Amino acid sequence: MHGGGRTLVTVLILALFAPPADASPWQVCGNSGTYTTDSAYQASLNRMADTLPDNASSLPTLFATGAMGAGPNQTVYALALCRGDFDASFGCLVCLKSGFKDGQVLCDSDMDVTMFYDNCHVRYSNRNFLASTNNSQQHAFFSSSPSLASSVAARFKTFVTKLLNATADYAVVANSTRKFATGEMDVDRDYFGGQFDKISSLAQCTPDLTSAQCRACLAAAMSGMPRLVFPSNRTGARVVGERCGLRFDVFPFYDGKPMVRLQVGGPGGKTKATLAVVIVLAILGGLVVVTLIGLFFWRKKRSQRKASLFVNVDDMESFESIFISLSTLQSATSNFDEKNKLGEGGFGAVYKGALPNGQEVAVKKLCQISKQGVGQMKNELALIAKLQHKNLVRLVGVCLEGGEHLLVYEYMPNRSLDIFLFDPESGKQLDWGARCRILNGIARGLQYLHEHSQLKIVHRDLKASNILLDADMKPKISDFGLAKIFTDDETRKVTSRAIGTLGYMSPEYAMRGHYSTKLDVFSFGVLVLEMVTGQRNNFAVNSERFQDLFCLVWKHWVEGTIAEIADPSLGRHYPRGEVLKCINIGLLCVQQKPTDRPSMSSIVVMLGSDTVSLEAPYRPAYVLDRSRSYSETTELIIEQMSSETHSSITELAPR
Ligand SMILES: *[C@@H]1O[C@H](CO)[C@@H](O)[C@H](O)[C@H]1NC(C)=O
Ligand SMILES: *[C@@H]1O[C@H](CO)[C@@H](O)[C@H](O)[C@H]1NC(C)=O
Ligand SMILES: *[C@@H]1O[C@H](CO)[C@@H](O)[C@H](O)[C@H]1NC(C)=O
Ligand SMILES: *[C@@H]1O[C@H](CO)[C@@H](O)[C@H](O)[C@H]1NC(C)=O
Ligand SMILES: *[C@@H]1O[C@H](CO)[C@@H](O)[C@H](O)[C@H]1NC(C)=O
Ligand SMILES: *[C@@H]1O[C@H](CO)[C@@H](O)[C@H](O)[C@H]1NC(C)=O
Repeated sequence: MHGGGRTLVTVLILALFAPPADASPWQVCGNSGTYTTDSAYQASLNRMADTLPDNASSLPTLFATGAMGAGPNQTVYALALCRGDFDASFGCLVCLKSGFKDGQVLCDSDMDVTMFYDNCHVRYSNRNFLASTNNSQQHAFFSSSPSLASSVAARFKTFVTKLLNATADYAVVANSTRKFATGEMDVDRDYFGGQFDKISSLAQCTPDLTSAQCRACLAAAMSGMPRLVFPSNRTGARVVGERCGLRFDVFPFYDGKPMVRLQVGGPGGKTKATLAVVIVLAILGGLVVVTLIGLFFWRKKRSQRKASLFVNVDDMESFESIFISLSTLQSATSNFDEKNKLGEGGFGAVYKGALPNGQEVAVKKLCQISKQGVGQMKNELALIAKLQHKNLVRLVGVCLEGGEHLLVYEYMPNRSLDIFLFDPESGKQLDWGARCRILNGIARGLQYLHEHSQLKIVHRDLKASNILLDADMKPKISDFGLAKIFTDDETRKVTSRAIGTLGYMSPEYAMRGHYSTKLDVFSFGVLVLEMVTGQRNNFAVNSERFQDLFCLVWKHWVEGTIAEIADPSLGRHYPRGEVLKCINIGLLCVQQKPTDRPSMSSIVVMLGSDTVSLEAPYRPAYVLDRSRSYSETTELIIEQMSSETHSSITELAPR
């Protein structure tokens, strides 16, 4: 219930403000030596990058530290922390993995590297910095929010200090798991020339600090502000360090409702504002009640609408006809014998079988637990069964008996696309024409799901292994509609339970659970790039460290050497112009901003036409621009604020 209210607020906030989606990191490259490729340090770092992000993102604290290797300059010490408002652990994982990956790109082979992102930070080092809880690597960054007129700068500073102080207090006392708090202050719009009427704040420590250590760390971070942050008169800044950090800005940059809320009281804009901590519960309680009542009626209405839609469209007979008894399926698959197992998909194992009428089928045994009751699930499945398109795998039947959730699909003799695509030998069976037909088919299937079906489904787990091939190598999308059954939230376009596959997930979904049809467009783009290059888009950190698929394709796209990365299995028999066109389409689909990505219908048009002119894509998501100068995007000032040394402000030179 509480979660529902919270997410609703998030959605409202996002709809109203849409903060900038720039996920660029700030790197702090160290000065404690470099390592060589193939050194023991590199090996330890690879192992660290493989495990620490998983460990941190799977813990409720979103925090982990570790040491790998033995001996000086061979051991890697590392720390990983995600921002406390993370609900989708996938996003935390992606952010931390990026930290290890980007660090090796942006700081070359420095042994001591700290990477700060909006959503997480990572440090790895040959020094055992974990032995101390000092907030070293402390830096201040400014956001690109507008500057204040100097006449109101002093007032702003007072407000921000109060807000951050309250947020820091709250981070220490309120949540012992995450040592994290967010805050918000309502200010009179007239105070600041009508530019904004809210200040948002955030405070967080690594959860292993004691409350006293955390408060002291945050106080030290605050004490630097009058010297470092305020003189700039900027309306947004962060003070970050490896152990704690603070942030304020004039847009809500975090998910969820603020945990602390302050209001500037008194009419007429007195500078000596009285501040009142308003426990949001009153407001939120009201909102939750209203929302719940609304949701209750709406859901009720919705299920009625659904039910009636169902009854109107189909008669009860065909509804019942999709249900198949457990005993039938047991005998069809020799009681789910291992030798009939076709594979293990995202939602469970798949078995081959033959129905009594001789029809060959694939039976999927769902292993995840649906959040829906059997009644609602029956309805959803019956509706999914009615989605029929030549590029969708047909759901033949359903069995919900004896605690089992079994889905019966038409059998696809050529299995799935990945089996051909990622194998140099089988890949040869897919000539350029076949690849184009497959991409066209997938695009049409998705277009149907997004735009033409009654349900308007976002697939959410499109990937090569979910594209099945019939006897004529025609593609059919499988597993559509299942994400919907396994998450509770058709009503809102945010999920806390990301279902999908790393490597195919768009950043907004992986990081924050926000999804729309543009998520499938992103996954389709990945598929296009895989089809042309024959390479899997692994989200791998090590070994071929600069060679992940997006980086590789982007590099060749920029250099105009795309032909070099076409799948060798294609031989020489492919039209270069079409390869270029496909890569262009693929790159348009994997752009960072969902609004920049084309819709499935325009993709169908682009694929089918030789004359349509394509836009030039922006750099893909997850790919760093090494030549980027910081002044272009975000003004950034770095400050070594270690209490021992004298402070000085230096501008970070672009690398
Ligand atoms: C570790 O590497 C640094 C930088 O290369 C060097 O100064 C230091 O002496 C090395 N330490 C050991 C114990 O080898
Ligand atoms: C991650 O957790 C596993 C299991 O607890 C542990 O064996 C491994 O060492 C951890 N990884 C790191 C880098 O600490
Ligand atoms: C941590 O801070 C303490 C006190 O300021 C200082 O004595 C110590 O040297 C610092 N440790 C490190 C590793 O910087
Ligand atoms: C910020 O505002 C103060 C007045 O409060 C003014 O003296 C100062 O010059 C301003 N700084 C910048 C960088 O504009
Ligand atoms: C911060 O709050 C504490 C009480 O929680 C108070 O003693 C202190 O003076 C405040 N600091 C500022 C700068 O407002
Ligand atoms: C701490 O915050 C996290 C994330 O917001 C939440 O999941 C957890 O339940 C909170 N714990 C307490 C004790 O409030």
